[in-house]
Amino acid sequence: MNNPWLDISLSDYESHMSLPTVDQEVMTATEFSRIVSQFTPESVAVIGCAGGNGFDAIPASTRRVVGVDINKSYVARAAERYEKRIPGIEFHRADVQSDPLSFDPVELIYASLVFEYVSLPETLENLARVCLPGGHLVTLLQQPSTTMTALTPSPYTSIQSLSQIMRLVPPSECAEYAASAGFTLESEKRVTIKSGKSFLVQIYRKQEHSSPGQG
Ligand SMILES: C[S@@+](CC[C@H](N)C(=O)[O-])C[C@H]1O[C@@H](n2cnc3c(N)ncnc32)[C@H](O)[C@@H]1O
Repeated sequence: MNNPWLDISLSDYESHMSLPTVDQEVMTATEFSRIVSQFTPESVAVIGCAGGNGFDAIPASTRRVVGVDINKSYVARAAERYEKRIPGIEFHRADVQSDPLSFDPVELIYASLVFEYVSLPETLENLARVCLPGGHLVTLLQQPSTTMTALTPSPYTSIQSLSQIMRLVPPSECAEYAASAGFTLESEKRVTIKSGKSFLVQIYRKQEHSSPGQG
């Protein structure tokens, strides 16, 4: 099976995310902005960066910015939008659960609404290899709702193909796999948007010294 993300146009994805009934685009960008203000990292990697949602908030003090996405047309569009505006930005097309990530380790990794589509153990091991010791991984996970479907219905019907691979990840499961990859959970907070959907932001710290087998 082809990964359904490869067959969804960026325009469909971005239009879907900004629909009033979905309304997640601003929320994920706002959380990213809070995180970069909190950590003021010298280097940051955004995993599943799509078209660069939230990149406007990256401060000039962040000298290296890496965007990673499985869809090459998404990274190409993000590059068009941000290469001139953010010095030291680089983009990589990669499947984070299976492809080696070919960039130098960063202080902060932001993975928002992407763990729902990947195998966690492989992905977390991969991310551990590109996170500096003492650096942070921040995840944003969609939480189950008793009243709403995981994928909000919308006129952008291509989005519904994601139901083949989407799985809401229990935060405790994420924390377990993260711990095996060398990330310690430091804090978490719930964010609820107008539609009633909730999300959990988890902040992990990468251990200073790796154990054998850990990135
Ligand atoms: C729901 S969107 C989230 C976009 C952005 N992080 C945000 O919060 O606004 C998920 C993104 O992850 C990317 N993605 C999904 N699976 C991936 C994988 N295995 N490797 C890399 N990127 C992936 C998709 O192409 C898409 O751009």
